[in-house]
Amino acid sequence: MRKTLLIISTLLFLDTIVQLYLAAFGTFSGELIGEEAFTPHMINGQLVMRSLALLAILFAALARSGKSTVWLTVGIFLLTWVQLLVFIVGSILTGSSQENPNLPGAWTVSLHAVSGLLIIFATYWLMLRARRLDRTGIVLKSTKEESLPASS
Ligand code: HEM
Repeated sequence: MRKTLLIISTLLFLDTIVQLYLAAFGTFSGELIGEEAFTPHMINGQLVMRSLALLAILFAALARSGKSTVWLTVGIFLLTWVQLLVFIVGSILTGSSQENPNLPGAWTVSLHAVSGLLIIFATYWLMLRARRLDRTGIVLKSTKEESLPASS
């Protein structure tokens, strides 16, 4: 279970880098392929990243990785929804839409890049925790550490 958690959290971290690359692709290919430019980024975010985040929750629990690590995986999953919420709340607050964009809307939805960076940090942190758990069997608690015998 611990090895599986390590593999999933590593894949999740690598997928966030792919997601960043796909965002850049969306930006630089916009003039060439128009509205489809962000489709790979959207599909990766909605399907691949969310599925990996769900698996991370499952295996963090099964591997008995500790409450704080399980909450970290839940937080990562929720942050993938924040990525969508930023667009929805941003357009409601500013009245901006794809057909009628405005500058306040652009400033607001650009927070998507910052919360995306938070996802990258969080998945890196998870990967480090999973590696530590796999190698040493140490379960991190919020303030103190407890050594547990490696179960698998
Ligand atoms: C850095 C610049 C970024 C830009 C310009 C950008 C842009 C976008 C756009 C335009 C969409 C919506 C695509 C559509 O509906 O057609 C989207 C979706 C998404 N992005 Fe980003 N993004 C960026 C970074 C990131 C990062 C770093 C992450 C996470 C590591 C991320 C995670 C997501 C997710 C999970 C979705 C899917 C949301 C949903 O529809 O449920 N984005 N992004």
